[in-house]
Amino acid sequence: MAQKNLLAARLVVDDDFEVGPVNDRLFGSFVEHLGRCVYTGIYEPGHPTADSHGFRGDVIELVKELGVTTVRYPGGNFVSGYRWEDGVGPKEQRPRRLDLAWHSTETNEFGLHEMAKWLEVTGGNELMEAVNLGTRGLQEALDLLEYANVPDGTALSEQRRANGADKPFNIRMWCLGNEMDGPWQLGHKSAEDYGTLAASVAAGMRQIDPDLELVVCGSSNHGMPTFGAWEQTVLEKTYENVDFISCHAYYQPYLNEDGTRDMASFLASSVDMDGFIKDVAATIDATKARLKSTHDVHISFDEWNVWYQGEEPSKVPEGIGNWPVAPRLLEDVYSAADAVVVGDLLIALLKNADRVHAASLAQLVNVIAPIMTEPSGPAWRQTTFFPFSATARLAKGGTVLKPKLAADRVDTPRYGAVDGVNAVAVRCANGSLAIFAANRSLEVSAAFEIKLPEGTEPAFVEAQTLHNDDPLAANTLDDQNRVRLQPNESAGYDAAAGVVRVLLPAVSWTVLHIS
Ligand code: AHR
Repeated sequence: MAQKNLLAARLVVDDDFEVGPVNDRLFGSFVEHLGRCVYTGIYEPGHPTADSHGFRGDVIELVKELGVTTVRYPGGNFVSGYRWEDGVGPKEQRPRRLDLAWHSTETNEFGLHEMAKWLEVTGGNELMEAVNLGTRGLQEALDLLEYANVPDGTALSEQRRANGADKPFNIRMWCLGNEMDGPWQLGHKSAEDYGTLAASVAAGMRQIDPDLELVVCGSSNHGMPTFGAWEQTVLEKTYENVDFISCHAYYQPYLNEDGTRDMASFLASSVDMDGFIKDVAATIDATKARLKSTHDVHISFDEWNVWYQGEEPSKVPEGIGNWPVAPRLLEDVYSAADAVVVGDLLIALLKNADRVHAASLAQLVNVIAPIMTEPSGPAWRQTTFFPFSATARLAKGGTVLKPKLAADRVDTPRYGAVDGVNAVAVRCANGSLAIFAANRSLEVSAAFEIKLPEGTEPAFVEAQTLHNDDPLAANTLDDQNRVRLQPNESAGYDAAAGVVRVLLPAVSWTVLHIS
């Protein structure tokens, strides 16, 4: 395909055609006992900003600004070897344990009570709790549910009360294990075995509380050899007793034959996410039809992000005597290009808001995270913070409109020709309009126009763009504000044509707010 000097893209806003409401849970995140996500991330007694619980105040402020809703906890791979009982009761009596997933020592200083309190302090965000179906099973899941949610009068609910939580935690959303399809997972299972176990755990949990929202494990990524068959088997066994099936996906540049990074495909990563969602949705529909069910199962995309797996920051400690506490792990430093991909992945989630009712950016602090901290030092926003916070701020409570988008195409080695601009419109809760757009081109800007509904006379058009002339520019401890959203002065309303026009630089992500 010949390369143009300027891409063209046009989005038609039409309120008569909706994808559906934006579920608040689309802006979830994830806190795992991994590296420094908990310890020296959200929790650091003695830090200058720490409160009486040891929660870092600077991190709480950034979490609020980020606009996170649900928080998945305590893992991740970690949960598949976790004994929840270790993390409750007097801190000085809590055992130190080997964390096999991340070859670390877990001190258990932070557990369920601390997480519930931290969520309260951060503004009442929702806890999405995962149970261990790796080394454990039905009884331990039932015990945890009784401990957490039964008001009083039983051994475990009274134990919770004695441990300081008079009121139940009332956790609504539960993950039935984590990535059980992955050979790396402690207690990894076949689809048959996992589906049978998950079905019995789901049924048992519902005997305590029929109204829980349960998430069964789907595939750890779209490219898993078992993808598709896994979903089919697991859904067949659990369908009536679960509300969600999970998807996980992490993106990073593939390597070209000459060893360089395939940035063109990387910038189009949301093409894969979109296909993944559609494939899983088709499997849900097929299962529903086969079972003649009237029940609906939605997607919980409860791990997604850019992650440079295999690179130095993700190398776990090794050695029989080497089990550090809260080592620096998965501390990827995100570039402007990474933020564009994250913004574009958010567009894909919004476009599929009818099927994806929950999602978790993995993770929240320090570990492949939008927020970074230094022990005893500052906290700052990574580049990926900005598309997430801007989308959450405007889209929460809104309605996604069916995308009527026509865009010039760009070539990618992996996905072929793809739309150079990806975009979606959300009618916001207050009636204003938000447009989110990514220019996926590596080289050229895009002239983007938005056709507003007949009779619309916007009082203001505000555009902010995340872009850096160096797509690899990042925010670091020494330079914390290098990349962020900047006003895009090119945006304006053309009354004669009834369109808003804005120029999107190459490798950029833009939010427009039209009122
Ligand atoms: O988020 C990091 C890890 O990625 C999680 O522990 C695991 O579930 C996934 O493989």
